[in-house]
Amino acid sequence: MFANSDAEEELRGIFLDSDMDIAGDIQEHVLIRKDDEIIGGGMLAQTDDKVFHLLVFAVKESARKHGIGRLLIEELLRQPWQYCIDSSAVLEKNHKVTTVAKGQSAEFYKKVGFVPCDFSDLAQPFHEQCLECPELDDCNPVAMVYAA
Ligand SMILES: CC(C)(COP(=O)(O)OP(=O)(O)OC[C@H]1O[C@@H](n2cnc3c(N)ncnc32)[C@H](O)[C@@H]1OP(=O)(O)O)[C@@H](O)C(=O)NCCC(=O)NCCS
Repeated sequence: MFANSDAEEELRGIFLDSDMDIAGDIQEHVLIRKDDEIIGGGMLAQTDDKVFHLLVFAVKESARKHGIGRLLIEELLRQPWQYCIDSSAVLEKNHKVTTVAKGQSAEFYKKVGFVPCDFSDLAQPFHEQCLECPELDDCNPVAMVYAA
């Protein structure tokens, strides 16, 4: 489901624990709940007719390694236009989703079907997003693409 302003603090906490933050308006993010607790979320933007970019994605630390990340991302990958607030597209196939994995999470993305690509394959401004980052060396970011 899409997040609303009531979810902002809780979702931001999950991202901050992984050195990320809310990536735009809170309403642009999707989240997954278990009972009353938010256990993960992310945000997609549409960058071309059939291309979407996953800006942030995280599962709450205490909920990791139980398949929640796979559950949420597989849902986002199946029909990203449904989880991208600005998208009116209804596509059936041949869509792509790009992202930049922080080093350790690249293995997770590979498990769900992403493959590494060149940063130049990402839409602007994402293909330059890491160049100025002071944590570049520690983060070891990997550009990745999923093709449906
Ligand atoms: C990466 C992340 C989203 C994975 O969420 P999760 O709920 O723990 O993942 P799942 O339990 O659904 O794991 C799915 C598969 O990926 C594998 N996997 C998950 N994290 C992994 C890691 N860090 N290294 C290697 N494999 C990993 C799991 O072993 C599992 O494999 P399997 O299906 O063969 O058993 C979570 O660890 C996280 O939020 N990390 C911090 C934020 C982050 O790095 N986000 C990515 C954007 S840069």
